Amino acid sequence: MEAVFVDFLSLCLRWLHMIAGMAWIGSSFYFIHLDLTLKPDPHLPAEAQGAAWEVHGGGFYQMVKYLVAPQRMPDKLAWFKWEAYTTWLSGFSLLVVTFYLNAQLFLVDKTVLDIEPIYAIGLSIGFLIAGWLVYDATCKSSLGRNENVLAAFEFVFLVAVFYGFLHIFSDRGAFIEMGALIGTMMVANVFLVIIPNQKKMVASLIAGETPDAELGLQGKQRSVHNNYLTLPVVFMMISNHYPLIFGTKYNWVIFALVLGIGFVIRYFYSFHHAGKPSPWWAWGAAAVMMGLIGWLSWIGSNSYQQDARAIRPHVPFSQVQEIVTARCSVCHAATPVWPGFAAAPKGLFLDTADNIRAHADQIEIYAVRTKAMPPGNVTDISDADRNLLGNGLAQLASIK
Ligand code: HEC
Repeated sequence: MEAVFVDFLSLCLRWLHMIAGMAWIGSSFYFIHLDLTLKPDPHLPAEAQGAAWEVHGGGFYQMVKYLVAPQRMPDKLAWFKWEAYTTWLSGFSLLVVTFYLNAQLFLVDKTVLDIEPIYAIGLSIGFLIAGWLVYDATCKSSLGRNENVLAAFEFVFLVAVFYGFLHIFSDRGAFIEMGALIGTMMVANVFLVIIPNQKKMVASLIAGETPDAELGLQGKQRSVHNNYLTLPVVFMMISNHYPLIFGTKYNWVIFALVLGIGFVIRYFYSFHHAGKPSPWWAWGAAAVMMGLIGWLSWIGSNSYQQDARAIRPHVPFSQVQEIVTARCSVCHAATPVWPGFAAAPKGLFLDTADNIRAHADQIEIYAVRTKAMPPGNVTDISDADRNLLGNGLAQLASIK
């Protein structure tokens, strides 16, 4: 009963999280685009910086941007912040439901670090806070005065932190922790810097004073960071469904490349939308990096078959079935014995010879090429058994 409820709760939270995330990313992409397409117009009031004409949903819009307060401050101002806050709140709740409630399976891998699930949860929350504090401090420090130096520093910082996570949490735990940290940095940028600064600026505009330009610059710096982190954060969230990404030896290089891809693509659009000569090379660079990710994911996975000329041990199917029954079917069966599972996870049954044959490719990806399954290696499958499984499944394929 409890497992059924948790499963349903996870569905509700995931749905909400995705929708809020789309609304947040959508509105931030929209405003970046709008900002870049504003053009000066002599018909506008003197305080207006520029305007853009847009067409959508059967109507025309003239969007005008004021840098200083317009003659009369409107009674109602729309603030764009709840998209970001809802994304974080639903995301953190989802982290609790999927990872913290099942920390032993998804956050901890005792072959990486043998810690009690409760400590892993404590560390996970601690890193979200500490990561933000370090990032925020560097933005405010003298490093923050030069945006290129700061960007280079943040890049190295994030990759180093991720490398550390990989030595504390399970691979998939490290990926989600990194996604959660980047997401937390982005939302905290909105909550603790961008919105409070905007509020102070609006207050001084209403009071007829000149707002402190520094406030605007700080907000701008954080907005730029958020823009460049948008694509990587989404990648980190979905990577959890791809063991060949999180469970591969070079996963930390993959993360560095993902940051690079996120950067070059958003860089392209910042020129393209502004109507400046577009750096088309950015797409080439992104494609090369994506290709590298695919290659690294492949060569970094367990290459049990690499030496095809060597005599492969003959593994009878009965041995394959024996390993799978011993290590997998406590969960992947009609009535899982493992506590906390109401039904076979992902509807995947590995309890009969036919089912094992039918899912040979998936077993190879999840349990041989990578160590994604069993989660946290809770049923203690050995590396030797993983290789036997791989060879047995490969022989099965060749008779098919
Ligand atoms: C402790 C319970 C448990 C054990 C033991 C276990 N699994 Fe899983 N398995 C899960 C859970 C939970 C998921 C869903 C993970 C997710 O949400 O991404 C899963 C997902 C999978 C998937 C992905 C299915 C899909 O459609 O996405 C495969 C393949 C898989 N397991 C294979 C195996 C193999 C092979 C073994 C044995 C070597 C094994 N599992 C052992 C719990 C288990």
